[in-house]
Amino acid sequence: MNLLINGSNREKNCFNILKAIQKKDDEFVSLARQNINFCLGCNACVRRLDNLCVLSDYITTNVYEKILVSEKIVLASPLYMSQISGLLKNLIDRLNPFYNHQLLKDKTIYLILVGQGSYEDNEEEINCIIKWLSGVSEWFSFSFEFLEYFCSGDINNNNDVIKNDVSYSNKIEKIKEKLT
Ligand SMILES: Cc1cc2nc3c(=O)[nH]c(=O)nc-3n(C[C@H](O)[C@H](O)[C@H](O)COP(=O)(O)O)c2cc1C
Repeated sequence: MNLLINGSNREKNCFNILKAIQKKDDEFVSLARQNINFCLGCNACVRRLDNLCVLSDYITTNVYEKILVSEKIVLASPLYMSQISGLLKNLIDRLNPFYNHQLLKDKTIYLILVGQGSYEDNEEEINCIIKWLSGVSEWFSFSFEFLEYFCSGDINNNNDVIKNDVSYSNKIEKIKEKLT
């Protein structure tokens, strides 16, 4: 079972890409429009050594358990101002309770990025994100792999990854193969 997480604030391109790669027994989580708080930075999860987060929201009630039982976790994020979305960054901050006992060890976290610009336009930003998340993966001892960048096109051109990314189907098939 893989866990697929939509890290966009809407259910459009990232959401549709994940739906296209979803297998029957995969879990699917969309962070869009959910009740999600920011990490308080209280470090209760570190001090108490019990992996608990003091917050009670969609992440504590729906996402933590799914992460813990999944071996492969696929994150899909839009590029927002050359970075991943704030929503997904917040989820990554909220992984802090798993640090003490290295509960993400032996898991693989994959990343899909979507932006309106071409891969070439965004290459530097994409590499920056890969470098950053590779660093995080080392602290937490999970494996990290960047899967694919999709171009969703200009907002005025419908911002639709299926129409605007000529390699859409090939990329989807490649990802599906990798995740089997
Ligand atoms: C606040 C904001 C910032 C964005 N910044 C970028 C960017 O830096 N580079 C880019 O290529 N696209 C950028 N985009 C476009 C989105 O990445 C694009 O619309 C993407 O398809 C959104 O993903 P979604 O369809 O899953 O919501 C931005 C969009 C928004 C709303």
